[in-house]
Amino acid sequence: MTQELTPTRTAQREWWRDAVIYQVYVRSFADSNGDGIGDLRGIRDRLPHVAALGADAVWLTPFYASPQADGGYDVADYRVVDPLFGSLDDAAELISTAHELSLRVIVDVVPNHTSDQHAWFRAALAEDTERDGGPARERYHFRPGRGIDGELPPNDWESVFGGPAWTRPPVSHHHPSKEGPSGPSDSDGDWYLHLFAPQQPDLNWNNPEVHEEFDSILRFWLGLGVDGFRIDVAHGMVKAEGLPDIGSREQAKMIGSQVLPFFDQDGVHDIHRGWRRLLDSYAGERIGVAEAWAPSPERLALYVRPDELHQAFNFQFLNCPWDATVMHAVIDASLAATASVGAPTTWVLSNHDVVRHLTRYGAGDDALGLRRARAAALLMLALPGSAYLYQGEELGLPEVTVLPDDVRQDPSFFRSNGQDGLRDGCRVPMPWSGGEPPYGFGPAGSWLPQPDTWKSLTVEAQTGDPLSTLELYRSALALRRELPGLGDGEMQWQESPEGLLTFTRPGFACTLNTTDHEAELPTPGRLLIASAAPVFSDDTVALSADSCAWWAI
Ligand code: NOJ
Ligand code: CA
Repeated sequence: MTQELTPTRTAQREWWRDAVIYQVYVRSFADSNGDGIGDLRGIRDRLPHVAALGADAVWLTPFYASPQADGGYDVADYRVVDPLFGSLDDAAELISTAHELSLRVIVDVVPNHTSDQHAWFRAALAEDTERDGGPARERYHFRPGRGIDGELPPNDWESVFGGPAWTRPPVSHHHPSKEGPSGPSDSDGDWYLHLFAPQQPDLNWNNPEVHEEFDSILRFWLGLGVDGFRIDVAHGMVKAEGLPDIGSREQAKMIGSQVLPFFDQDGVHDIHRGWRRLLDSYAGERIGVAEAWAPSPERLALYVRPDELHQAFNFQFLNCPWDATVMHAVIDASLAATASVGAPTTWVLSNHDVVRHLTRYGAGDDALGLRRARAAALLMLALPGSAYLYQGEELGLPEVTVLPDDVRQDPSFFRSNGQDGLRDGCRVPMPWSGGEPPYGFGPAGSWLPQPDTWKSLTVEAQTGDPLSTLELYRSALALRRELPGLGDGEMQWQESPEGLLTFTRPGFACTLNTTDHEAELPTPGRLLIASAAPVFSDDTVALSADSCAWWAI
């Protein structure tokens, strides 16, 4: 008789069904050597903060060799740590320290595109297609242009960062190995596809070599002990046959709501199935989480079918306005879609690509934004499923909206009309301690300037203050671990007045007031925690404006 297959064991092994995973934006978490840039040693030293917060795992954004044209999402070598962030030994040490602290480690993998400095792309540009037939170019999407001399891009696709999704590399780059000045040949003038920056050429996933290479990359990191992968652009690797025109402009605005020939094509699921088999061949329940933009919750749920990935970020929830009716509908749609495939829902409010939720909810009023952000965190952590936290949200950090243009690094800022171009404001380094920048981020300076108003927001300043956002998160995560009714499982909506949401879970109730006034309710039970203190009288309770509370029932 073996123990492994008993239901309890299985349930315990599926840690990811209700895990709280803390996103570390590597560049901005902690700097160990004083160059102003966060690094792996810095992270390792600060992991106790994440463990004390009560998270189950960390997700680290890319720290691989990269020219950093897109914050490391342009990878030049997937098996090398960028010297900016440390070494492979540092990565191994970080992983083992995390495991000692009972934190799992998820790393990013970027399979949709490489850097233009990747050996494969350099070889593609240098290739003499007439002589060699073009195997290096076959790993990417090279196509002749349209127009008389091929001077127009092969189709009308736009980059997510703005501008055309095609670049025609200069002819001189084609034949660096040839002696003398390079002359035109018939391969000259082909364009290559990049759904993001021109420095991020898209890989051709119809090529088996690409599959083999990524299997090997995953094995490399699994061998080093990582517990899973966050899969960048998990919806993008397969493009519609023939790369058809879309026929309309402003395609970046269509992502996530409409069918596009470069995103969410059915073929991507075969890739994810292959990776699931690979993950399952390792001990320890290693996981894959999809960063996927699909036109509906039902299409998103396909990524988390039992033989595919474990989690997929719920961006519909992230994009939800502060409105009880809309939230109710989005929560229902998400839960129904994931339930239909037997997967948990993966909640998220912020990440390194969007304006921090405090600022989104506050619409110009940070005090209002903070009240709502605290409430939203309690709402999210009470819902069935897993949740991702983005570094700094536990401190109630606002978006930094006043960065001068000359410090900005986001490539979409320089190629406007695509993504809003303002992703640096959520990437400002963490404030840990002290009264002035860099607030313990490192020995000197930080790559993006921190506001001089962050003194009261540091981990040090908030620790032990029962009213602080940090202590709210710590208490909520501790309760979430303790209460059997939270995490994966059932929930039921209860009747509640307009602008309020109430739901119950076994032994538990959650009340959310999204209105700008106090709301009176029959007291649901014993108060466990609240984002703003409610006022009790006899058997009713007045919930504060923009607040959330948890109750034992
Ligand atoms: C999503 C990542 O989160 C984002 O930062 C990056 O720019 C794009 N994918 C392209 O890799
Ligand atoms: Ca550093």
